[in-house]
Amino acid sequence: MKLRVGFLFGGDSVEHEVSIISAIQAMNACDEERAQAIPLYISKDRDFYYFDHIPTAQEFSSMEEVKKNAVAVSLVKKGNTVTIEPIERKLFFKPLGAIDLAIPVMHGTNGEDGTIQGFLEMLNLPYAGCDGIAAACGQDKVVMKHILCDSHLPVCPWTWFYAHQFESRMEEIKAEIRALGYPVVIKPACLGSSVGIAIAHEEAELLEAVQDAAQYDNKIVVEKMVANLREINCSVLGTVFDCQTSVLEEVGKGSHEILDYEKKYLGQGGKSAKGVKGAMKGAGSAKGAAKSAGMASAARIVPAPIEEAETQKIQQLAKKTFEVLGASGVCRIDFMMDDQTKEIYVNEINTIPGSLAFYLWQEEQVDFTQLIDRLIDQAIDRQRRREKMITSFETNILANYRG
Ligand SMILES: Nc1ncnc2c1ncn2[C@@H]1O[C@H](COP(=O)(O)OP(=O)(O)O)[C@@H](O)[C@H]1O
Ligand SMILES: [Mg+2]
Repeated sequence: MKLRVGFLFGGDSVEHEVSIISAIQAMNACDEERAQAIPLYISKDRDFYYFDHIPTAQEFSSMEEVKKNAVAVSLVKKGNTVTIEPIERKLFFKPLGAIDLAIPVMHGTNGEDGTIQGFLEMLNLPYAGCDGIAAACGQDKVVMKHILCDSHLPVCPWTWFYAHQFESRMEEIKAEIRALGYPVVIKPACLGSSVGIAIAHEEAELLEAVQDAAQYDNKIVVEKMVANLREINCSVLGTVFDCQTSVLEEVGKGSHEILDYEKKYLGQGGKSAKGVKGAMKGAGSAKGAAKSAGMASAARIVPAPIEEAETQKIQQLAKKTFEVLGASGVCRIDFMMDDQTKEIYVNEINTIPGSLAFYLWQEEQVDFTQLIDRLIDQAIDRQRRREKMITSFETNILANYRG
C-alpha cells in the first residue's frame, strides 16, 4: 500500500512564502509509486488546510483563494492512526483519510524551532527531519553557538544579551562589543532570512541596530563582522548514526553588505542592512514568492570555487556540527570564510533548508525524488528506534498516593 505522506508547510513565520515554494517543489518530487503526497498547509493564523491536489503557488495568493481550493482541517490522533478531520462537517461528508508520516517543509518560527516537531510527537506520527530538541537548538543562535563552542567548533567571535537589559547593562555590553571590535553584526537570536539583521560600523550605530533586532526577539546576538566575506554552504543528509555531506555551494551577496531576503529568494537587487525590513514588505507576499524558484534561484556557484583542502575541512565541520546538534534529515550548514586569512567559521545550521537543498544533492547523484525517499526512510527509522527505547516504568506511586 502507498504511504500517505503529509507535507506540512506555511506556518506563522517570516519565511512562510518560501516554505510554500519549497513544499510545492518537494511534493512534486515525491515518488508516486511509493507515496502519495498530502498537502497540509498551515496559514499564518496557524489553521490547517488540506488540498486534494498538489497546489500551485497561485493558490496561495490570498486566504480567500486558499479557502476556495482547500478544506480547513485538524490532525486528530485516534488510537494508532492520525486522521485528517474537517473542522466543519458537511452533510455528505467524505472522510479525508489518515496520514502515515509527515515531512515538515517549514522554515523558521514554528517549523524549524521544534514547535511542529513537538506537535507531531504528541500525535505519535513519524516525521522527517530534526526532532524537537535538535530543531530548537538549531534555531536559537545563542543556544546553537554555545553548543558549537562547547564542542570546539570555530564560531565567529560573538556575545549576546537580552534587549530588555540593554539600558541597565549598557556599559558592560558596550565594553563586550568593543572587545569584539567594530564593525559588528547585530541579529535577533531566533529569526532567519536575514530579517532584523543590521551592521553597526561604530558604537553610535549600536542603539538603532539593537532596537531594530529587538522588534523580532528579546535575545540579541552580536558578532564581529567577518571581513573579505565569502559564504560557503554544505548540506548534510542522514542521522547521527550515519550521515553524508554534499558538494559545497558559494552564495554571492554581490555589492550588498548582507545577503538579504530579496537577494536570497527573489534574485533582485536587495537593500543594505537597514533596508532589510523594507525589502521584506515587498518580498513577503505569495505573489513575490510565486515568481521565485525559492532558495534554488539565489545566485550561487556549485561546487564552490575553493581549494580542495578547504572543501574537505568545511565538509568535516559540517558533519561535526550536524552531529553535536543531534540533527537528522536534510540540513544545510552555512559557513563564513575570510578570503584573506582563510579563517573559516560555522555560521548556522538550517534544519529545514530552502528547497530542501535538493540542488546540492543532485550533484551527488541523489535526485529530488530520492532525497524525499531518504527523508521518508529516516522518519520510519527514528520511529522504529524509538519504539525500542524504554519510555516508562511500572510504578506504584499512584496506588500509594492518597490525595
Ligand atoms: N559575522 C558576520 N560577518 C559578516 N556578515 C555576516 C555575519 N553574520 C551574518 N552576516 C551576513 O548576514 C546574513 C544573514 O546572517 P545569518 O546569521 O545567516 O542569519 P539568518 O538566520 O537570518 O540567515 C549572512 O548570510 C551574511 O551575509
Ligand atoms: Mg543564514
